[in-house]
Amino acid sequence: MTVLPALAVAVLVTVWVLSSRTRRRGLPLPPGPKGLPLIGNLLDFPATFQWLAFDKWHKQYGDIVYLNLAGQSVVVLGSPEAASAFFDKKSAVYSDRPRMVMLNELVGWGEFNIASFRYGNAWRELRRVFHQQYHSGVIPQYYPIFLRHTYRLLRNLLTEPNELDQHLLHTASAIILDTMYGIDVVDRDDPYVTIADKAMEAVVESATPGSFLVDSFPALKHVPSWLPGAEFQRKALQWKALMQDMHNKPFEVVKNAMQRGRVAPSIAATMLQEVSSDQVQRREYVIKAVGATSYAAGSDTSAATTQVFALAMAMYPEVQARAQAELDAIVGPDRLADFDDRPNLPYVNAIVLELSRWLPVVPLAVPHAASSDDEVGGYFIPKGTIILGNTWSILRDPVRYPDPDQFKPERFLTKDGRLADDVQDPSVAAFGYGRRICPGRHFSDSSIYLLVACMLAMFSISPPIGEDGAPVKITAEMSAGSVLRPAHFDCIVKPRSDAAIDLINKTAAFQ
Ligand code: HEM
Repeated sequence: MTVLPALAVAVLVTVWVLSSRTRRRGLPLPPGPKGLPLIGNLLDFPATFQWLAFDKWHKQYGDIVYLNLAGQSVVVLGSPEAASAFFDKKSAVYSDRPRMVMLNELVGWGEFNIASFRYGNAWRELRRVFHQQYHSGVIPQYYPIFLRHTYRLLRNLLTEPNELDQHLLHTASAIILDTMYGIDVVDRDDPYVTIADKAMEAVVESATPGSFLVDSFPALKHVPSWLPGAEFQRKALQWKALMQDMHNKPFEVVKNAMQRGRVAPSIAATMLQEVSSDQVQRREYVIKAVGATSYAAGSDTSAATTQVFALAMAMYPEVQARAQAELDAIVGPDRLADFDDRPNLPYVNAIVLELSRWLPVVPLAVPHAASSDDEVGGYFIPKGTIILGNTWSILRDPVRYPDPDQFKPERFLTKDGRLADDVQDPSVAAFGYGRRICPGRHFSDSSIYLLVACMLAMFSISPPIGEDGAPVKITAEMSAGSVLRPAHFDCIVKPRSDAAIDLINKTAAFQ
């Protein structure tokens, strides 16, 4: 067969395969932008900020949008009802993850990272362990850790107010490493933070869609690393070594400390202590998996949320003033806000809710995948379809959240200032969906509440003054990497009073 007829046959077969999918069970695929032959919507698919393009498509095609990326089906869900129809009502079908050969199989991230696990028994086992360590009932055990690192943040901001970004990032990493391994990280160039961050850079690179041919042609994973052109295999080996450091190094700290009989309390120490000697090997694997996943899933997301908080305070001085008035009235000037104060601080709580709604840091959650052919709402959903919950659209719905672009904590309050129970809680989407919903959400909610309350009580955050003598206008520019976070903005962080400075200095006594 010459080239042209062969190509024609290939095109016909592909068109037939794609169209036969729509004929399956006599149901249509969901609506979506019309694609080109063979490549489908590949050229429509934006390289960044995809949720904004999806948002436009929802307005045009509805809350279930279908895309064909060169044969890979993708469905995007743009309302809580659509998300629930897939992720809750059909959770047995839509709790899988897509296969990612480079990241999960060659670099080895899929052996440890629960968020990447395919839906099945291995995921169930580790998800159960995660739940035991992070469910709402155990979170108060971690309060001393949240207090220690929040106080340290306040002291660091006193001495280095211009390093806000750096300190917020560091606080999130420190809280996870302390909780998980009892490691008391140092403020600058901590070796364990560096190890984890290097591994995370490799994760982001190896997971970038379209970067590695092996993701589209999995058979290539068997190509030996010495073959010319097998650069991806050599990269995978380098990155695998970074992953292994991330899994092993912090764990060794706990193991060595246990052997010396001087171990700091941590999730890893407790899990090692409570296991019988014949189960140690399996338990070590589980601890490493929970530790690496906690860092990967919890550190950047929590840091980005606190950066969104700083941005919102710099942009909305009236919100900041109202929260400070609440804190001054309820907590007073002689002590710092605590967890016991939380029920009496509705406006601060409303700020925490509005943070995850206004700029959700994981705007498309983590992709789910359909584990079998299915039908939802009269549409055919082929097995293997990637399902994206469009958290951005769900939390920017102008009907549920009027003026969705504005940071307005009062939307969550009743007229008399209590938390309203008839406004949709942003956690319907901000922490993902169905059986894969974020198991760290109670942990991050408590740690972020404390940071917000303490920072607001002690500091003011304001825009810098421009040459014209007026405050510089800050806008909500975002930068998209592993998570969505505010692009760098300048702001002034100042203690609110001399009494605040005294109070912050006194926190040094808290261990
Ligand atoms: C503001 C902070 C956080 C946000 C916004 C966030 C958001 C998310 C989202 C959107 C998902 C995907 C859920 C899905 O697939 O539908 C997820 C998964 C996950 N998160 Fe979080 N997360 C945060 C903090 C944390 C923390 C602190 C931890 C652990 C200490 C954590 C652990 C996990 C794990 C293990 C998964 C994977 C769950 C699975 O695949 O079964 N997250 N998170």
